[in-house]
Amino acid sequence: MKVLITGITGQDGAYLARLLIEKGYEVHGTVRRSSSVNTKRIDDILSKYEREGNLALHYSDLLDSASISSLINNIGPDEVYNLAAQSHVAVSFENPVYTTQVGTLGSVSILEAIRSSKKEMKYYQASSSEMYGGGSSEKLNEESKFIPKSPYAASKVFAHNMTTIYRESYGIHAVNGILFNHESPIRGETFVTRKITKAVGRISQGIQEKLTLGNLDAVRDWGYAGDFVEGMWAMMQHEEPSDWVLSTGKAHSVKDFLDKAFNIVGLDWSKYVETSETYYRPNEVDYLLGDYSKAKNKLGWEPKVQIDGLVEMMVENDIHEAKQEAVLLKEGLIEPTWEYPVIK
Ligand code: NAP
Ligand code: GDD
Repeated sequence: MKVLITGITGQDGAYLARLLIEKGYEVHGTVRRSSSVNTKRIDDILSKYEREGNLALHYSDLLDSASISSLINNIGPDEVYNLAAQSHVAVSFENPVYTTQVGTLGSVSILEAIRSSKKEMKYYQASSSEMYGGGSSEKLNEESKFIPKSPYAASKVFAHNMTTIYRESYGIHAVNGILFNHESPIRGETFVTRKITKAVGRISQGIQEKLTLGNLDAVRDWGYAGDFVEGMWAMMQHEEPSDWVLSTGKAHSVKDFLDKAFNIVGLDWSKYVETSETYYRPNEVDYLLGDYSKAKNKLGWEPKVQIDGLVEMMVENDIHEAKQEAVLLKEGLIEPTWEYPVIK
C-alpha cells in the first residue's frame, strides 16, 4: 500500500508517517523548500527508512497544483492524507489571503487530481473543530453547525464541504476528520500548550523569567496527537466514507493547563504569567468540547492519553530540552532569550 501525506513535516504528519510505516505502507510526503532544513520532526525515520525505500520526500507546495497532480499520477497512492495548512488561527488573521488559498485551493487541487486519476484513491481532509466557532459549552458532534470565526476556520469549512461534494458527486472515498485540539512534545512552539510547557521547562532551569499569553479563559478539548493519527487511519479503513469527530470529551481552560503544567515543577504560574493584547485574537473561539461517540461506536476508537498524561509528557520533554539549552548557554555557545518563542 502506498500513501501520500501532505504536511509530513508538521506535528500530525510526523506521527502519521511513523504509524503508517509501522503498518507496512510505502510512505511519500511533501516538503516545502525553505532556506533552512525543516524536516526536524521526521529526521530520525528519514535516516532509517529512506534508504530502505519505505519513506520518500518530494518538494511540493499546496499552491502548486501542477506538482500535486504529477505527484498523484507518478506515485499512484492508495490513500492521500491532506494535512498541509497554515494551521495557526491567530496568524490566519494576519495572513488571510495565503491561509485561505492554501486551505481551499490545496484541497481542490488534490481532489481534482484524484478524480481524474484512473486509479481509485482514498482521500482524508484535515477538518477542524475550529469550524464550529465555539460559541457555547455544548458537546459538538458531526451534526453540529459550523460558524467559523477566523480565515483559517472559513477555509477549513470550504475544504470540508468540497470533500463532501467530491464524495457525493463522484463516489470518491473522501473522509473528513473533524479533529479537536491535539498536542504532543513535537507540537509547534507557538500553540498555547507547547508555549506553556516550553516555558515551564525553561523557567525550571532558570533560563526564562516570564511567560506572556493572551486569553487565559479560553476552553479547549485537548488530546494527544499519537492517539488522533490512529483515528485518522481508522476512518480511512471504514467501508463508508464519512465525517468523524475525534476528541477526548473533556474541557479545560488555558488556566487549568497552566495549573497542571507549573504544578509538575512545583511552581505557582501566577507569579510568572503576564497577559498582553498581542496574543488576543480579533475574534475568539471561547469553548470547544467534542463528542466522539460515532468514532467510538463505529471505529472502536478512544483516546488513550488524558490531559494529565499529556501535560506530563510535554513538560518532561521540555525540561529535557531546557537542560540541553542551559548547557549551551553556560558554554557561551548561544545567547540568552528570556522569553520563548520570541514571535507570535
Ligand atoms: P502543523 O504542525 O502546523 O503542520 C502543518 C504542515 O503543513 C507542515 O508540514 C507545513 O510545512 C505544511 N504546510 C504549510 N503550508 C503549506 C503549503 N502551502 N504547502 C504545503 N505544505 C504546507 O499542523 P498539525 O498540527 O500537524 O495539523 C495538521 C493538519 O490538521 C492541519 O491541516 C491543521 O490545520 C489540521 N488540524 C490540526 C489540529 C491540531 O490540534 N493539531 C486540529 C484540527 C485540525 P512546514 O513544516 O514547511 O511549515
Ligand atoms: N497560540 C496562543 N498563544 N494561544 C493563546 C495564547 C498564546 O499566547 N494565549 C491564550 N491563547 C488561547 C487562544 O486565544 C485560543 O483560545 C487557545 O489559547 C488555543 O490556542 P492555540 O493553541 O493557538 O490553538 P487553537 O485552538 O487556536 O487552534 C488549534 O486547534 C485547532 C482545532 O480546534 C490549531 O491546531 C488549529 O490548527 C486547529 O484546527
